[in-house]
Amino acid sequence: MEPLHSGNSQNVVLGVSGGIACYKAVELVRLLIRESFRVRVIMTKESMKFVTPLTFQTISGQPVATELFSLTQESQIGHINIADFAELLLIAPATANVIGKIAAGIADDLLTTVVMATQAPVLLAPSMNVHMYQNPILQENIRKLKGLGYHFMEPAEGYLACGYEGKGRLPDPAEVLEEIKSLLKKKDLLGHRLLITAGPNREPLDPVRYLSNRSSGKMGYALARMGARRGAEVILVSGPTALDPPSGVRRISVTTAAEMRDAVLKEFPRCTAVLMAAAVADFRPVNSISKKIKKGKKSLQLTLRPNPDILKELGENKNGKILIGFAAETETLVANARRKLREKNLDLIVANDVTEPGSGFDGDTNVATLLDSKGGVDPLPLMRKEELADRIYDHLLKLKANSK
Ligand code: PMT
Repeated sequence: MEPLHSGNSQNVVLGVSGGIACYKAVELVRLLIRESFRVRVIMTKESMKFVTPLTFQTISGQPVATELFSLTQESQIGHINIADFAELLLIAPATANVIGKIAAGIADDLLTTVVMATQAPVLLAPSMNVHMYQNPILQENIRKLKGLGYHFMEPAEGYLACGYEGKGRLPDPAEVLEEIKSLLKKKDLLGHRLLITAGPNREPLDPVRYLSNRSSGKMGYALARMGARRGAEVILVSGPTALDPPSGVRRISVTTAAEMRDAVLKEFPRCTAVLMAAAVADFRPVNSISKKIKKGKKSLQLTLRPNPDILKELGENKNGKILIGFAAETETLVANARRKLREKNLDLIVANDVTEPGSGFDGDTNVATLLDSKGGVDPLPLMRKEELADRIYDHLLKLKANSK
């Protein structure tokens, strides 16, 4: 299947300055193009000693700008045109030299002139030798630029091409991409404190076995990622998953439904909205046995007792907060979801038929119908979990506006 794109058509100008990490900038352009960004690349003279303009031109599908005073380039591309085209200007890798020039207001080549002329946000991803990075002159320049509204990514730690170990590596292109998306997103959830649950629970049977379900956590993590990108403070209460916490999100890891309940109840008073995407375990074994259950028995009977319904409990003490639940259904989707919406006193429920292809557990996509407490029904097509998260937040903001 072709990867689904998020449909960005935003303009990114990438300035490449001269360091060994230039090769990673090529991969970054590939990722941006794959996600439908329009990319124009500016290369400094020094960067062309590491990678040729032809490489970036081939990957971006656009001519690469390299010179300020070239008759042809200035008439075809033009430094003011590029500055105006940019919705975000990224410099990766950003050398100590280019950072120093920008901090001093020097505009003696195409890249630094575009930095001067653009009104777009500027993001710099420094990459250099660890001692150069620690140099107080560079640190002072970074402080100054941050104070003027420039954005910086911290270099990653590890083996450096110069032979040293330490902080100075260009972060992974996927991380830079995440930062770009975050900066380009409108911050319409600023001021919100979202409490999100994700993933499955594990209810122990004995020290080596447990009862669980097929939730991967992807839906809840997508909510957390998009919430943070839109400016919310996000607390993610997560069952066991293989996923890394999205950047800027505080994760609280839990295992059982009882632990999830404790964490949620503790964080609930200070949040503005709760989104429960977790597949909370409905039952737990009455007796969890402290020694491994021996095999060899002809049959084994388990007695289960119901876990508390966390969301229902929140619905009984709502206190003006927005409550959003999920309903994982295998039949009569809308009727079942509407019953849960009512019984748990929710504002919105996201109903997904987990038997439908591309929907529900584990995959990167979902098919959902949004049902709200005012009777609104919004059936959505197959989309990436991130896009669904965005639709849910759009709905949350409408609910908030209507409640004023
Ligand atoms: O994690 P993924 O692999 O990405 O899969 C996503 C998902 C299918 C798990 C997700 O989209 C989803 O549907 N989550 C809710 C699953 C579920 O438990 O549905 P439910 O109909 O049993 O519960 C209804 C709501 O009550 C849910 O918001 C649930 O979190 C909550 N609940 C349920 C039981 C319980 N004891 N306490 C609860 O709070």
